[in-house]
Amino acid sequence: MNRDIACIGAGYIGGPTMAVIAQKNPDRKVMVVDINQARIDAWNSDNLPIYEPGLDEVVKSCRGKNLFFSTDIAGAIKACDIIFVGVNTPTKTFGEGAGYASDLQYWEAAARTISQEANGDKIVVEKSTLPVRTADSMAAVLHTHPEHTFTVLSNPEFLAEGSAIRDLLDPDRVLIGGPQDRRGKAAIKALVDVYAAWVPRRRILTTNVWSSEMSKLAANAMLAQRISSVNAFSALCEATGADIQEVAGVLGMDKRIGPKFLQAGPGFGGSCFKKDVLNLVYLCRTYGLDDCADYWESVISMNEAQQKRIVARTVKALFNTLAGKRIALFGFAFKANTGDTRETPSLTVANLLAEEHAQIVVTDPKALPNAERDLAHLQNITLEPDPYRAAEGADAILLMTEWDCYRTLDWARVYAAMRKPALIFDTRNILDLPALRALGFNTLAVGRA
Ligand code: UDX
Repeated sequence: MNRDIACIGAGYIGGPTMAVIAQKNPDRKVMVVDINQARIDAWNSDNLPIYEPGLDEVVKSCRGKNLFFSTDIAGAIKACDIIFVGVNTPTKTFGEGAGYASDLQYWEAAARTISQEANGDKIVVEKSTLPVRTADSMAAVLHTHPEHTFTVLSNPEFLAEGSAIRDLLDPDRVLIGGPQDRRGKAAIKALVDVYAAWVPRRRILTTNVWSSEMSKLAANAMLAQRISSVNAFSALCEATGADIQEVAGVLGMDKRIGPKFLQAGPGFGGSCFKKDVLNLVYLCRTYGLDDCADYWESVISMNEAQQKRIVARTVKALFNTLAGKRIALFGFAFKANTGDTRETPSLTVANLLAEEHAQIVVTDPKALPNAERDLAHLQNITLEPDPYRAAEGADAILLMTEWDCYRTLDWARVYAAMRKPALIFDTRNILDLPALRALGFNTLAVGRA
């Protein structure tokens, strides 16, 4: 077996992960391949297809040396004996399991291509989140090959967008699941060696395939559940006069609970949380565990309730009608430091505002190209890169994404540009509300009076 690495899928996972692997393994060739020519061209340009702090530097340090981006999928499969699959596995929108199960068509297509093009034994590493027990089906597809053997490993990604490079360089843990027979153990060792180039050995965990796949779903479900729990408290705080920031501060100091993922807000977005929790719900139902399925499903309903509540409170604060009013959304990305808008709370809020016949203005430092696509179905939408211009004539600003640039805006200038009375709704709790009130704003915030 050779030491070279291919990755099918040049997206949010494949791109950054392979760039770091290449940088830390200068003796291995790393080939990232994708059917999308435009995406590959972007990876080969100065304008990478995704925004991720630190990514440019890592890509520049090894692109053309041992890191290559191309559309030659067959060539990469032949050249490399370790093949990562990082294609997307969105929630199914049709057929059996629609709305819950993962759509595995891209994964299956990738597996079939590997089996067709392989010229020898290969280690296949699943990077995409897959519902537990699908590695089995993948192995079944791969094993249709008459001569070569394929060992399927699960190596779930725990990196978060916006901090992907930092997460990759200094991961809490790297998880590798594989078959527990002799061949499986050898494959696990081969993959451990890739990460051991920079990750301390004690942080590389090896398990069986099912534990590894399940751990990924479980980790995301636990994090999503924390956000839904804190958001459920935010609603109760608003009703009672408690302050969620204070409550979360108290919770976080309990060592058993810890301070992270206690930030109340507009609800979680991103490519993983909703999809993985829905997957878990589907799995539970499949095994007849309806109580468990209902429990996890409520994590999703709580998230949706948060976005509805934000719009309902806005309507109430603007004298029970939004018709014809100009509402500015500050931030469309699902969180700061990414242009990604998958499952972004801003989209749900925009849809609800549109139902109220509001005129919507959207501003964001990185996500406007995605916003344009996501909002194409709505009328009365304006996209405006400059936040001051977005505020012009607006009745309300909903601060949706915790971008640093919004913390440091000249809020007096923003206030001057708006129609009065001017409302600001800080759904992320990042602004100084007393200071804003002193400027003349009416204020709302999630979980606070
Ligand atoms: C997540 C997981 O963290 C990562 O391990 C997994 O592999 C992919 O999914 P990501 O979606 O990039 O990563 O973002 P993350 O930082 O986890 O945030 C998810 C969502 O939760 C965001 O919408 C964020 O705004 C929200 N969030 C997070 C809160 O509302 N409150 C918090 O306290 C933390």
